[in-house]
Amino acid sequence: MRDAGLLRDLAVAGRSLERAERTRHAAEGAHDPTATPYFVLEDLLGGLDLVADSHLLDVGCGAGRVLAYFVGAALPGHVTGVELDPALAAEAAAWSARYPNVSVVAGSALDLPLADYTHVYLFNPFDTPVLAAFLDKLECEAVGPVTLVHMSDNGEWPAYVGRARWTVLREGTFELPGEEGDCPQHFTVRQLDFT
Ligand SMILES: C[S@@+](CC[C@H](N)C(=O)[O-])C[C@H]1O[C@@H](n2cnc3c(N)ncnc32)[C@H](O)[C@@H]1O
Repeated sequence: MRDAGLLRDLAVAGRSLERAERTRHAAEGAHDPTATPYFVLEDLLGGLDLVADSHLLDVGCGAGRVLAYFVGAALPGHVTGVELDPALAAEAAAWSARYPNVSVVAGSALDLPLADYTHVYLFNPFDTPVLAAFLDKLECEAVGPVTLVHMSDNGEWPAYVGRARWTVLREGTFELPGEEGDCPQHFTVRQLDFT
């Protein structure tokens, strides 16, 4: 399965997008730049209601696996990755520059204007206080309904307790290759109601 992922990375990005390194930004609450496996992206993002004017934000894009999946699957709309680590952001920007439907922003998701985004993906990017600040910001800045896909092995759902505008559309778990016996990755697909 890892080799199949590598072939898909190479086809779109010309390089492996897996990263085994530890984060250089733990002091800012950042988590390691682990890439989401393709079979998970097919399940979580392949079934979204994306259309030509959709805009997906990958919060903490690492080297750009989600961006590569978006291109390879020919999903409609635009995808933007925001990445705190400047070296990872530069790498994602370098390989994706040839794709007009992909953008990369170097910096914190907490500094990114969020009004443009119709869909948001988070794979365990940061600690709970940063997550709470990100959700506060999204709730303030959204100008329409937002579909948010969130996966984490340390429990993403407590961050939504008391947030009345979020509706769970779907949830479940994945056991990722190499993590057998660890806590499974739990995901929720939620809609931010905009009224
Ligand atoms: C688990 S990786 C996910 C990589 C990619 N989204 C994927 O699913 O393949 C989490 C990434 O979030 C980044 N990150 C952490 N805090 C961030 C922040 N405040 N703003 C933007 N990116 C952040 C980390 O540097 C790391 O690369």
